[in-house]
Order: sequence, then C-alpha cells, then structure tokens
Amino acid sequence: MKILVIGDVVGSPGRSMLKKALPAVFRRHDVEYCIANVENAAGGFGVTKEVCDEILDLGVDCLTSGNHIWDKREILGWVDLIPQLLRPHNYPKAQPGRGSHVGVSRRSKVKVATLNLSCRVFMNGALDDPFTLGLEEVERLRQETPVVIVDIHGEATSEKQALGFHLDGLASAVVGTHTHVPTCDHRLLPRGTAYCTDIGMTGPYDSVIGVEKDAIVQRFISGMPSRFETAKGDPRLAAVLVDVDPANGRALSVDRMLLAEKDLGSL
Ligand code: FE2
Repeated sequence: MKILVIGDVVGSPGRSMLKKALPAVFRRHDVEYCIANVENAAGGFGVTKEVCDEILDLGVDCLTSGNHIWDKREILGWVDLIPQLLRPHNYPKAQPGRGSHVGVSRRSKVKVATLNLSCRVFMNGALDDPFTLGLEEVERLRQETPVVIVDIHGEATSEKQALGFHLDGLASAVVGTHTHVPTCDHRLLPRGTAYCTDIGMTGPYDSVIGVEKDAIVQRFISGMPSRFETAKGDPRLAAVLVDVDPANGRALSVDRMLLAEKDLGSL
C-alpha cells in the first residue's frame, strides 16, 4: 500500500504545485493515503481553516504541522474541529488540538495512523520528550492499526535519526519536516521502518527556505530585521513514497521525489 508524505507546503506557490502535481502523482504511483505538512501553507506562516479545506479537497488525508501551527491566530478556533489537522503530540497538554489521527486508505480500506512529533534541539517552546511520548503513542496507535506514519518536525539531523532508530520496527515510517531542505538519506532501517531525515519543502526553490532570498541575504549581512516575503520562483513538490505491508505495518520500500513543473508531463 503506497503512502505519500509531502514536505512543508509553503504559501500559494506550494499549494498551487500540489494542485498541479497531485492528480498525476496519485495516479502514477497508485497512492492510497496522503499526508502533508501544512504549517507554512497560508502565506508562508501558519495555516487557516480555508487553506486546510483547500488541501483536504485535493485528496490529502491528514495534515501535520510544527512550530508555525499557531502563527495565524484564527486556527486556534478551528483546530479542535478539524480532526485531520495535527499539532505535535509532545506540545503542552494545555494547548488545543491533537497529535495523532487514524484515517482509512482509499482502495484497500486499511486504517492508517499519523503521529506528529516535534524535536527539541534548536526548537523553541516547552516541549515534552518526543522519544518517550512518541513511543507510548505509537504503541497505543498500533492497538488500532499496524500502519503508523510519524512526521518528526525538527532542526537537528541527529535527533531525527535517533528518533528513527527509537521507533524502528514499531512505526511504518519516520520522516522529517521543518528544515525545508530535502535530504537524500531515505532508507529502510533494520527492523522495517522507512526513514528520511527531511522530506524537503513543497514550494518555491528560488529562495532561502521559501523566503525571497535578497531579504535573507541582507539580514545576514546587516543583522537588521527585514520583512519576509514568500518567494515564487521554481516551485517544486517534495515528498516521500512509502510502500507499506498492511498486514504487519512494515515498510517494503521508500523513495523520494522532488518534482518541478517540467517533470509533471512525464508522470
Ligand atoms: Fe517548522
């Protein structure tokens, strides 16, 4: 069963790339379930109810997030009403929303669990331990289905790799988001978990991690604050495709894709 996990969707360039690419990618790879990280999908910072609806309407089944989840304040009033929208499970319990979701795959009607976790190294906020809480939640979800996909949102490659090994053999996949830079270390871990440190950004690659590059360069040079605008050029879709055995949840293969508009015609 093929599960597509899409890396951080950034602003309208990212959303319009989803709209153009997803029908062909779904068809070409016989995708049964799709997860996307949407924390930057509204104007490059945060997410709104309208943007969630737009992405769910494209056939995405579950939406994950991270440190930018609350950037658009209006989502505070909606997060408990959109069961497919997750915030990291190890955020303080006093925060609204939830960190996991169980959906059903399109053709084979297999339950697919998604768990959203945040790393702690170089990440702001009073976050609980993603290793302990993540393991407990994966074990709880496995009572319902062996197919468990983990989005680990974080900066430090070492912490993400450690979480991958910590959940190896229990999660079907542990895949990373947040840095907006795809890594080419996708592989199957020894006990059958698919792993990739960072899927990369679905958005404009003529940019510094999605933002107009000149403003960022000037900020590094001057150290002065500057206005960040979402870039537009060279939009791409970044995703990993995991083939999972629905009988036991083990990953059979993991592939990575980084598609530009010119690549869509040959799908
Ligand atoms: Fe992030």
